[in-house]
Amino acid sequence: MTMKIADLDIPGNVLLAPMSNVTNLPFRLMCREYGAALTYSEMISSDAVIYENEKTINRGLSAEAERPMGIQIFGNSPHVMREAALRIEELYRPEIIDVNFGCPARLLTKDGCGSALLNYPATMKEIIEELVQNLTTPVTAKIRILKDMEKTLDIARLIEDAGASAITVHGRTRQQQYSGKASHEYARKIKQELTIPVIANGDIVDEISAEQTLQDTGCDGIMIGRAAMGNPFLFKRISHYLETGEMLSHDECARRVADLRYYFDLLEKHGLVHTVDIKSQAHWFTRGMRNGRHIRRSIAVSNNAEEIISSLEKMCKHAL
Ligand SMILES: Cc1cc2nc3c(=O)[nH]c(=O)nc-3n(C[C@H](O)[C@H](O)[C@H](O)COP(=O)(O)O)c2cc1C
Repeated sequence: MTMKIADLDIPGNVLLAPMSNVTNLPFRLMCREYGAALTYSEMISSDAVIYENEKTINRGLSAEAERPMGIQIFGNSPHVMREAALRIEELYRPEIIDVNFGCPARLLTKDGCGSALLNYPATMKEIIEELVQNLTTPVTAKIRILKDMEKTLDIARLIEDAGASAITVHGRTRQQQYSGKASHEYARKIKQELTIPVIANGDIVDEISAEQTLQDTGCDGIMIGRAAMGNPFLFKRISHYLETGEMLSHDECARRVADLRYYFDLLEKHGLVHTVDIKSQAHWFTRGMRNGRHIRRSIAVSNNAEEIISSLEKMCKHAL
């Protein structure tokens, strides 16, 4: 199933969530290759853009092969966010600029950014309006829910009325952080109220939860975060299942290690090796694999990416 955001044709309805320190360019490229319909950058501070903080701005680096892609910004000032978004538009020409109204991290909320803005609907409205009126790029928003359904619906309506082209709903409150189970009832009700595309997010981890969430909410799309960490192949599995109704059979061990190798190659190719911790990334890619204790030990004693890969390859052969 494809979806449309503003005039953009999005080639599917399963999206990769923005994740700080996770969704870098190599990882997004892999997710796209495996069937993620749209990827979002890690969140970028609008203040950092204005003050030309190169490291942060580089989070917007993209490549033709991943398009369409969205760049997510956060901030607390409509004017600063407008200026930052204009600069991002000029630098990277993303297909979408997304506004973070969901991050519960204290680092953001103490400055009134991310999910703290859910308490200030007038400012949220002003931010979206500033962006929509001044950018040529479509603007989308990502929210968390409020406990109160009516207030959550008010916020969703306000985002649509301000001119946003789509909204993503993570079915947890700011207070929940990542605990409890995401409620998709809010996304379902929002979908009934709005005319712009609505994307449901939270706890979608496999083929069945993907299908179930699409069915239960009637949403235009779903967005996957944590379950895709180190597991970009999940997009292939889910797309295949949604298209055919069949589970894709594959050699999990060999697939994970081949993906890790490809990921390291892409980091190298894009000059980004120094930006990640190779060992923790290797842990993500091997999460859930059998023989976890052996895998962890072999990663711990490896000295570089090549050593990690070759010891994992040996383990996979052994497992056959
Ligand atoms: C490590 C990590 C980093 C995240 N960074 C961002 C971010 O930069 N912007 C954002 O809107 N949400 C961020 N999130 C939230 C996710 O986009 C997503 O809404 C949340 O994880 C729920 O989806 P899931 O259950 O599929 O993981 C992050 C989550 C994690 C785990």
